[in-house]
Amino acid sequence: MTKAYDPYENMLHVMQTAADTLGLKDSDYEIFKYPERELKVSVPVTMDNGTVRVFDGYRVQHSTLRGPAKGGIRFHPNVDMQEVKALAAWMSIKCAIADIPYGGGKGGVCVDVQQLSEGELERLTRGYTARIAPIIGEDTDIPAPDVNTNGQTMAWIMDTYSKVSGQYTPGVVTGKPVEIGGSVGRTEATGRGVMICAHEMVEREGLAASQCKVAVQGAGNVGMTAARLMQETGFTIVALSDISGGIYKESGLDTREIAEYLSVKGRLLRDYQADGVTHITNEQVLSCKCDLLVPAAMENQITASNAEEVRAHMIVEGANGPTTTEADAILADKGILVVPDVLANSGGVIVSYFEWVQNRQMYYWEEEEVNDRLQQKMLHAFEQVYKVAKKYKVSLRQGAYMIALQRLVAASRMRGIFL
Ligand SMILES: NC(=O)c1ccc[n+]([C@@H]2O[C@H](COP(=O)([O-])OP(=O)(O)OC[C@H]3O[C@@H](n4cnc5c(N)ncnc54)[C@H](O)[C@@H]3O)[C@@H](O)[C@H]2O)c1
Repeated sequence: MTKAYDPYENMLHVMQTAADTLGLKDSDYEIFKYPERELKVSVPVTMDNGTVRVFDGYRVQHSTLRGPAKGGIRFHPNVDMQEVKALAAWMSIKCAIADIPYGGGKGGVCVDVQQLSEGELERLTRGYTARIAPIIGEDTDIPAPDVNTNGQTMAWIMDTYSKVSGQYTPGVVTGKPVEIGGSVGRTEATGRGVMICAHEMVEREGLAASQCKVAVQGAGNVGMTAARLMQETGFTIVALSDISGGIYKESGLDTREIAEYLSVKGRLLRDYQADGVTHITNEQVLSCKCDLLVPAAMENQITASNAEEVRAHMIVEGANGPTTTEADAILADKGILVVPDVLANSGGVIVSYFEWVQNRQMYYWEEEEVNDRLQQKMLHAFEQVYKVAKKYKVSLRQGAYMIALQRLVAASRMRGIFL
């Protein structure tokens, strides 16, 4: 019987391998195996019909050694403590690789947002914020959007936190709408970072974007933006999927038109129609004939049972944890290069950092400045990961974890253990 997928176990395995390659002593990184703080809350919500439902919510702070905890909030029926712990740890690794002064955190509520009205969603968000308010703050733990949360969700969090603390506190969350202290460029930042990594990978393989066909799993904030920006910069997007299924067109999908189509709430790809577009399954998107695959939906998508089917020779991970450890080994055997999540999707947290800096200074930048600085940081991180991976003859994922662990361990040694 195969063991049930546990994202936290997955993370520990990758970290252990990186620690072994670096020759670290157990005592150097033992503390990173355990989150600093795990909070579970129950959030009562008065539903539109007058009944009360109670939702499970979580906030985990994996590490605050390099700065305040930082990481998104997810609303999804699969959210549980193991998932949130893994997502929080990945944020510690990601912020260390990007070299921004944050630790890692993550939060979530176990809920199917499709079943909630706008009013119920607002009450749930505010109730959850009030429950986690004692441990979040602009100097302690700063949430951001993740799956099924967006600028509106962040606006409710910022407002609730500001009201309960009695102080206007825009820096308590990032990914806010620009009208209330968000940063220009933040909504697109994760997808933009994926696009930047895709170009870097392709160039290092001696290819041009115009030669590459791309399949993207997930048509949300990350996947749709990445697909659109990649098409705008020369790639051909042949396949795209969302929760309802996939679409395919060998000569290339019109991602701008699809993004506009999906911008109407409730619309799904299964209902999208256009000349030459055929409907395929989600599995077929992962295994279709393409050069580059961008999983940008959820974790645990490329697994031991479908990794053999992947035909792309490069993968750029937009989602967090889309590839299991077993699948990673299969992909490596097949010679498929993987730009890991902790590097490829770090554009979001990098611009979140810029947003927080702007909030603290009450001084706002132009979009060009945000995008230029994002590009600089991503390219620098990519180069460092690439160099370490080459030097130690390991995967880019291992290279990325090795850099992160070195930085985390250095911070830990300098700060020492209190008591
Ligand atoms: N939003 C960010 O800034 C950000 C930053 C870093 C990483 N991420 C990660 O990127 C991933 C996507 O986040 P998002 O913000 O784009 O979420 P989102 O809610 O905006 O979009 C998720 C998309 O994935 C689709 N989807 C869900 N399950 C699917 C499945 N089984 N097969 C195919 N499609 C499926 C949904 O229909 C939707 O199109 C997550 O892993 C998230 O943790 C997001």
